[in-house]
Amino acid sequence: MTGRLTLTWANKDHALLSHGESGYEWVDRDDPRAREVRLLDEVGRVGDVTGDASDNFLIRGDSLDALRALVHTPELAAEYRGKVKLVYIDPPFNTGQAFEHYDDSLEHSVWLGMMRERLVLIKELLAPDGSVWVHLDDAEMAYCKVLMDEIFGRQNFVASLVWQKADTVRNDATRFSSAHDIILVSAADIQNWRANRLPRSERMNKVYRNPDKDPRGPWLAVPLQGPNIRPNLTYPVVSPKTGKCHMPPAGNCWRRSKSEVEQMIAEGRIYFGKDGNGVPQIKKFLTEVGDSVPSTIWQVEEVGGNRQSKSEMRLLFPDEVPFATPEPERLVERVLQIGSISGDIVLDCFAGSGTTAAVAHKMGRRWVTVELSENTADTFTKPRLEKVVAGDDPGGITESAGWTGGGGFRDLRIASSCWQVLDSDAGLEVYRAEGIDTATLRRAVAAQLGYALIEHPVFTGARGRSRLAVVDGVVDATAVADIAAALAEGETALVAGTAVTDDAQTILRDLNKGSRILRIPRDLFSRTGAVTR
Ligand SMILES: C[S@@+](CC[C@H](N)C(=O)[O-])C[C@H]1O[C@@H](n2cnc3c(N)ncnc32)[C@H](O)[C@@H]1O
Repeated sequence: MTGRLTLTWANKDHALLSHGESGYEWVDRDDPRAREVRLLDEVGRVGDVTGDASDNFLIRGDSLDALRALVHTPELAAEYRGKVKLVYIDPPFNTGQAFEHYDDSLEHSVWLGMMRERLVLIKELLAPDGSVWVHLDDAEMAYCKVLMDEIFGRQNFVASLVWQKADTVRNDATRFSSAHDIILVSAADIQNWRANRLPRSERMNKVYRNPDKDPRGPWLAVPLQGPNIRPNLTYPVVSPKTGKCHMPPAGNCWRRSKSEVEQMIAEGRIYFGKDGNGVPQIKKFLTEVGDSVPSTIWQVEEVGGNRQSKSEMRLLFPDEVPFATPEPERLVERVLQIGSISGDIVLDCFAGSGTTAAVAHKMGRRWVTVELSENTADTFTKPRLEKVVAGDDPGGITESAGWTGGGGFRDLRIASSCWQVLDSDAGLEVYRAEGIDTATLRRAVAAQLGYALIEHPVFTGARGRSRLAVVDGVVDATAVADIAAALAEGETALVAGTAVTDDAQTILRDLNKGSRILRIPRDLFSRTGAVTR
């Protein structure tokens, strides 16, 4: 570890357990609650959905649980791990305020721990040519930059973008009237990442004029000279109209060769001013310039500011107390234009009013979004996305995107924990939580062990040639005999039972050499047991 800069904070070596809207708790990294792969329960369907992992998802619950489910549950991992093109998050900025719909005041180290755990899983989800965009303000953006460098690699940092969120000055501000936020962008791998070009705006095109009524249309005069001295590019350029001879200014040379310039003069592509005596300039025609390279400064006129996002909210929800910190749809549209194309998967695990999902939907992206607060999901996120699907969402980018409705999404909720953890003298002990039925137990064990669910009379899951049998009861000689008999040639069994007789392991090994037994829930989380995450 020579020369590597790291950011450190209290409890960095601990895991952070989310208690939903009640906050976070530092726990030991081995704590089963910090390693549990939670199940997702479907609570509703909106519009056209297939019912499989390729649907758009609104997930209610903590983003870490959602990300862990996407990374580790085999059915979801197949669809999302290494396949998400763009992650755009607008997490609580940690401004110290309590907003109407969420609290924005975490202890600094808790905020960093919270972000690190989520960014680490986001890295697993990113496609090789994907990128992660984190929207923040001064409160945490410098720390988050270092954190992102630590996780994604400093070499993969792309840019910090300035979003002008306000175009008026607040005279009641104590020091500065804050007018911008920052969006930090990192690539999964900078060698693979390219920014898509942006369509040219009216404002950009306005600087192109046509003072000489050129039939090729509006043009912009750009310098013929450049900052260099090269003998072969230092020669006289003569105005055809007046015969005036121009040499490059001191310390400069021309940017083009003599023959090129002669050709350009013949084609009327060099401008010598109104009277023909001006310094020669190149005529860059609007029809010949392509889409534009995105700039790092995004102004209110281009992407909207806080005022626009508030009015978009009022249009969507005229009867609600407006969501406190929505973003304008055009801001998110620009992010998605630069970092994704139609059909790509976009993820936002701090949904709020659902701007990212709404914009992604209207732009033909697939999306997953996660919101912790049930109230926010019920009041804003879901109703807004329902309106988008129904084509009943008149604001934002609807008109410019030509959106008229369609598609759908599934409404999912992070299931409650299947386990209960008790702190005893012997350390942390894990038990099956009350009310967990056999079917749920089977799904939970399969997800935790990384087995894909299968339809089979004996086995719950499969991973390669290994078959998972979950026994909600005693694994004894008869049970292992039945399980071994159900194995096909070349397969082994992993038997997970809530109770196991002393002789069962030996009998199973005799019947099928590579097979083994573990006790649930104890061995699911033990570092020496079958599974570690
Ligand atoms: C700044 S707002 C996002 C606003 C959003 N970009 C919009 O346009 O409406 C942050 C959101 O993240 C949610 N949130 C906070 N902590 C979370 C967590 N651990 N998991 C999921 N959502 C969380 C908050 O409830 C809040 O709605």
